[in-house]
Amino acid sequence: MKEYKRILVTAALPYANGPVHIGHLAGCYIPADIYVRYQRAQKRDIKFIGGSDEHGVPITIRAMKEGVTPQQVVDKYHAIIKESFEQMGISFDIYSRTSNKVHHETAANFFKKLYDDGLFEEKETEQYYDEKAKIFLADRYIVGTCPVCANPNAYGDQCEKCGSSLSPEQLINPRSALSDAVPVKKKTKHWYFPLQNYEPWLKEWIIEGHKEWKNNVYGQCKSWLDNGLQSRAMTRDSSWGIKVPLPDAEGKVLYVWFDAPIGYISATKELTDKWDDYWCKEDTKLVHFIGKDNIVFHCIIFPAMLKAHGNFVLPDNVPANEFLNIEGDKVSTSRNWAVWVHEYIKDFPDCEDVLRYVLCANAPETKDNDFTWKDFQDRNNNELVSIFGNFVNRTFVLMHKLCGGKVPKLHEDILDDDDRWIMKEIESSKLKVESLLEEYKFRDALYEVIDLSRKGNQYMQKKEPWIVAKSVAENPEAQKSIDNSLHLCLQLTANLAILINPFLPNTAKKMLIMLKVVDKMLDWENAGKLKLLSVGYSLRAPELLFRKIEDAEVAAQVERLKNGSKTQNAESGTQEQKSVEPSALSIKPSIQFDDFAKIDLKVGTILSAEKVERADKLLKLEIDMGFEKRTIVSGIAMHFKPEDIVGKQVVVVANLAPRKMRGIESNGMILMAEDAAGKLHFVKPENVINPGSGVS
Ligand code: MF3
Ligand code: ZN
Repeated sequence: MKEYKRILVTAALPYANGPVHIGHLAGCYIPADIYVRYQRAQKRDIKFIGGSDEHGVPITIRAMKEGVTPQQVVDKYHAIIKESFEQMGISFDIYSRTSNKVHHETAANFFKKLYDDGLFEEKETEQYYDEKAKIFLADRYIVGTCPVCANPNAYGDQCEKCGSSLSPEQLINPRSALSDAVPVKKKTKHWYFPLQNYEPWLKEWIIEGHKEWKNNVYGQCKSWLDNGLQSRAMTRDSSWGIKVPLPDAEGKVLYVWFDAPIGYISATKELTDKWDDYWCKEDTKLVHFIGKDNIVFHCIIFPAMLKAHGNFVLPDNVPANEFLNIEGDKVSTSRNWAVWVHEYIKDFPDCEDVLRYVLCANAPETKDNDFTWKDFQDRNNNELVSIFGNFVNRTFVLMHKLCGGKVPKLHEDILDDDDRWIMKEIESSKLKVESLLEEYKFRDALYEVIDLSRKGNQYMQKKEPWIVAKSVAENPEAQKSIDNSLHLCLQLTANLAILINPFLPNTAKKMLIMLKVVDKMLDWENAGKLKLLSVGYSLRAPELLFRKIEDAEVAAQVERLKNGSKTQNAESGTQEQKSVEPSALSIKPSIQFDDFAKIDLKVGTILSAEKVERADKLLKLEIDMGFEKRTIVSGIAMHFKPEDIVGKQVVVVANLAPRKMRGIESNGMILMAEDAAGKLHFVKPENVINPGSGVS
């Protein structure tokens, strides 16, 4: 084993074209954060690097669709992503972004060095071009009819209906997914990096040199290397990205997968003047945390780039996770089949640690795994609440009741086998957890910690200090046994705080407060010790570490997941749309006729409609009600243009109490029907009738 002086941890830079979901957290950010917090507790010299990946075609396309600039897209999502990470306690030393200046310079210089060393091949090829959108089209953005199954919406690289893998040339009637234009072939020049030249070295370095890498990672690398590597274009035609630093390269930018990993270097530069210690000294341990779709880039392409450049350390390990599915289905952002971190935080405030717990305990470390809300609830209620939380709470309650709120003495003369057993468990847990963490086995490490608290409960159950307490009046010696059990349970609690800290930092903090000890107690060297709390020290009242999660809370999440995926489908209008069955569950509880009779419905005619300033969703309508004219503010602006609805008849809830919206008083509400695709339709009389007519 190599001796390392410092550790550099990176976590994949998420694309700033959408928020992060729990699959991202489980795949790389939570394991990375656990590892880093553990190493910090070990007092090792470590830096944790993160940031947003702000280049690439999907960002430009998103911008085009939303009618904003790419910079606006990345500004928006960079902020959302950064905040989600902060709220989840992902403790980056720096969270940077690839659109900033240091990075542009660093990446351009990196490219220039390889170019000057003659390491690129310059090639001119023909590629599909969209003359309407004025953009070269990656295969994904060409659609057409599948030659195999006649699906009219097959992609240029694959037909999702029959699964055939395709090339754009095979599509019948190809068209651009962006503009519907027929793509044309156009010549373009790019710089290719000849990966095949690095193949022998890569084989030696990975296949021979890194047999300890996780099976899923090693296996993927081996299959890439066995299949043979090819030159890869490291530039693209685009106006968004890092300009190719060469004179005859107008309109060319670096390929996003060339610039993004260099972002790790740029961010380290931003973080510290000593960045080259971390990147260039042999005794640095570089670890990349990523999801499995990033393996080839971090294990093959980026190392080959670093090798070609020279002077850089190579990753010591790339502990990639597999994917986390949700409720039995693959995550799909276009279908909105995902659990978004910023939404979770809103719905479960103060439960960051619960999500950290579930995503680690159920991490897709060796194979794809499934997240279900039921499992989330069960793990919270049956493990965090009933085992870990229960042990800590019982210990505190009993210590206050039976030992006067102070750490009782340990009477060595009467230690029994159970005492000695739990003492040994405390002492040995440190090494177990530690070696699992060093090997990136986060699930197992967490299991050990919970298991230690389970043993605490067993011990307590054996000793039954609350029963022993009944005999203290006749036999004062019995207090000694109570003291011993609570002394050891308290020392165990202090140990649990240290061991759980990398996983659940908020929980560890709460425990510190209850134990009235300083942060320093959490130093890893304190784990396994039996004298962390001094005798006679008075402790605070217990505070519940975890709360129960109710059936209704998780049911609401499942419902939202299903509904969310429906509305999203309607918006994107993709073929991924699932048919939506009107569900019996959506019927509200029954009411009496008298309740219904209170509602006064009347026909009205829209006289005018205009947008409400600074409110995307609202239209201000003037309605002729026959007996009067009224203003109604309605949330339909996303669905109708004002000019298209003037003259239409509507059904109005005429006796709804007035309400101010954006400073405008709204007098009533108009009825709308929503179809399965989420589209709104007016509810109105079949033929035009007098405004003011009643509806019943
Ligand atoms: N943005 C990429 C993704 O989300 C990851 C980039 S990692 C980096 O898949 F190394 F390139 F930064
Ligand atoms: Zn097909």
